[in-house]
Amino acid sequence: MIINYYDMLFSFSAAVDCVDQEVTGAKNNHGKRVAYLTYHLGKSMGFDEDNLLDLIGCAILHDSALSEYLQEAEDEGLHLYDKNGIPDVERMDLGKHCRMGEKNIHLLPLKTDVSGAILYHHENADGTGPMGKRWDEVPLSARIIHIADNLDTKFGLGDIDPMRYKDAVRWIRENRKGLYSADVSDAFLDLVDERVLYEISDENIDIILKEKISNYERDYSNEEMRKIAALFAEIVDYKSEFTMTHSIGIAEKVEIMGRHYGFDEDTAAKLYLAGALHDIGKMFIDSDILEKPDKLTTAEFRHIKNHAWYTYKLMSRVRGFEEITPWSSLHHEKLNGSGYPFEKTSADLGFNERLMGCIDIYQALTEDRPYRKPMTHEEGMAVMNDMVKGGFIDGGIVADINEVFG
Ligand SMILES: [Fe+2]
Ligand SMILES: [Fe+2]
Ligand SMILES: [Fe+2]
Ligand SMILES: [Fe+2]
Repeated sequence: MIINYYDMLFSFSAAVDCVDQEVTGAKNNHGKRVAYLTYHLGKSMGFDEDNLLDLIGCAILHDSALSEYLQEAEDEGLHLYDKNGIPDVERMDLGKHCRMGEKNIHLLPLKTDVSGAILYHHENADGTGPMGKRWDEVPLSARIIHIADNLDTKFGLGDIDPMRYKDAVRWIRENRKGLYSADVSDAFLDLVDERVLYEISDENIDIILKEKISNYERDYSNEEMRKIAALFAEIVDYKSEFTMTHSIGIAEKVEIMGRHYGFDEDTAAKLYLAGALHDIGKMFIDSDILEKPDKLTTAEFRHIKNHAWYTYKLMSRVRGFEEITPWSSLHHEKLNGSGYPFEKTSADLGFNERLMGCIDIYQALTEDRPYRKPMTHEEGMAVMNDMVKGGFIDGGIVADINEVFG
């Protein structure tokens, strides 16, 4: 499957940014700004083209494991959230999310060895970071991501002005050889001028990044696509503790169904990817609403319904995802037009859209949820057969699901 690397990375970025925003208060486009700075710093410090592209991938995904970390901390009984529902960064075990993120990055098919880039992105040059590594014990890539991440979070570079930038310069000088290694600090101070401040601003960052890494396409093997799918699913599934296996479960089940129907290898792998991505729009929905155990208000339900719209928006950005975007984003539409958010009808819903919709229901019913226990296969089938009778979903597919998973 030919996918545009840039587009794919930046849809990852939008998804990861949502968590970063909730947790660290980092502003929108944080991942892109870290990628932009990382790109320039890497270039000025001698990275070649392949290394630079991979470094951008790491920069975008530097906090891909933040939601996974927070869920695990909750499971262990660590309450990191304050009364406003914001996690306290001071109390977080930063080393742990680094280790989890390092594991994630190896799912992204890259050309060079990026080991340590994410693992050490919170290490301070003087050894006072979470793993106590000094600057000469961590790779340059990690030191570059560290300074870029830190400065954007601290100084909000998306709307920086020259006066505020002076504060940042003072900060870097004070922390040269403390938080940041001397070489990276100096490269940063050399790099930033009015042009960089202009380019990194929210109005311009998209256009500028597109110029730097435009139209880089790759033909990913089915194996690589499965890894990419797992990475997307990892990010979205940890958004809520009740859906930790939802996307990956759907990916696996639609692929099994694809094989049952005798689809070729490529289509089976595409179904897997589409399944992993179907709820990626949930990243844009408030966690409190996703996990609310009580009945949702009308406004909250409208907000949740839009997750399929956000999935559509995020996937539509990616050149190469044209075929699978409807498979993923129409999963809540119903044959009789009662679904959401587009209120499509049977005439608009192809086989793979219907299949995804049915598997989503089957997976959800047989999963544990805050308001009920998981249903057995038979109980789930009873609910789905009622939906068939009501004209909501495809009876043929439901019968096939019964045959395959019964
Ligand atoms: Fe981080
Ligand atoms: Fe960050
Ligand atoms: Fe959904
Ligand atoms: Fe779903």
